[in-house]
Amino acid sequence: MKAAVHTRYGPPDVVRISDVDKPTARDNEVLVKVHATTVNRTDCGFRAAKPFIVRLFSGLIRPRVTVLGNEFAGVVEAVGTGVTSFEVGDRVFGYNEGPFGAHAEYMTIPEDGVLATMPANVTYEQAAPGTEGSHYALSFIRRAKIRSGQHVLVNGATGAIGSAAVQLLKSLGADVTATCDAENMELVRGLGADRVIDHTAEDFTKDDQTYDVVLDAVGKSSFGRCKRLLKPGGIYLSSELGPLSQNPILALFTPLLGGKKVMFPIPKQDQEMVRYFGKLIDSGAFMPLIDRRYPLDQIVEAYRYVETGQKIGNVVISIESPSQ
Ligand SMILES: NC(=O)c1ccc[n+]([C@@H]2O[C@H](COP(=O)([O-])OP(=O)(O)OC[C@H]3O[C@@H](n4cnc5c(N)ncnc54)[C@H](OP(=O)(O)O)[C@@H]3O)[C@@H](O)[C@H]2O)c1
Repeated sequence: MKAAVHTRYGPPDVVRISDVDKPTARDNEVLVKVHATTVNRTDCGFRAAKPFIVRLFSGLIRPRVTVLGNEFAGVVEAVGTGVTSFEVGDRVFGYNEGPFGAHAEYMTIPEDGVLATMPANVTYEQAAPGTEGSHYALSFIRRAKIRSGQHVLVNGATGAIGSAAVQLLKSLGADVTATCDAENMELVRGLGADRVIDHTAEDFTKDDQTYDVVLDAVGKSSFGRCKRLLKPGGIYLSSELGPLSQNPILALFTPLLGGKKVMFPIPKQDQEMVRYFGKLIDSGAFMPLIDRRYPLDQIVEAYRYVETGQKIGNVVISIESPSQ
């Protein structure tokens, strides 16, 4: 089968389209014929080994996992002898960070892995980007226990995390102020934001309003700069480590001080989560935002585009006619 393979860490062109052995499902696994996947910031981080800590999980000198791709949507082609929850022909989508393998025509995943039946009303390309950015967004929302009526500011509402965060927050009934550039203000209002700030014209950290939560989905701010935006006891969350990797450190001691605090949740991934996203997609409360689509053969261009830091939502890879 065809797969996007990288055998060393580096820039996008370390990735090559190669013929590799088609995997077979072990007793507890399903074999998925992948119809759509994505190139996201997690793939970029593991391909380039940035930050360096990635090497602790994925190989100090060379990558242990040579086919990346964590988000997928496709059809179950075969099941292991012990599999009871999925059948051949099921349309499934999910998230496979760690083992990866979705940048290929076929992948395997344990039946209790992060996968679920796809919502009936969407295409593979629509479902595939439904778990990476959104699982970061959901981890933030759940950790901060955001509830209906709370005021939340989302910085960077056009990223994969930000665009999911706006929609997930609205589905919970939060009041959302979001930042993006002038060109995308209508788009972000369409995602449900109650108020939109053009970050190219206005410094959101100087805003007059205060918020229960500031969620920096592109990691461009700091707790120090955002503190004045927070109500007493308010929470600051960021998708990045922050200046001098301060966010995880601040998350350890600011909650002990009893005032405004930083939280830095470790994202959680399980079947409940992917089923939750499936239900939201089914109900129309959440639809992953898609920017560009590329065929698997052009995955290097997809990586280059994602690394401009300018994608709007998600970049999808279509895998159309698998070889035998
Ligand atoms: N494993 C990892 O290392 C990992 C995994 C996931 C995410 N992350 C981090 O999480 C962040 C978000 O990732 P993502 O995939 O959701 O989105 P992304 O692709 O990094 O975000 C791109 C969007 O952010 C907007 N943006 C850029 N600078 C901005 C600013 N200063 N203020 C507001 N918006 C800005 C851009 O639009 P405009 O510039 O046109 O407004 C573009 O639409 C990244 O920093 C990424 O490194 C890391």
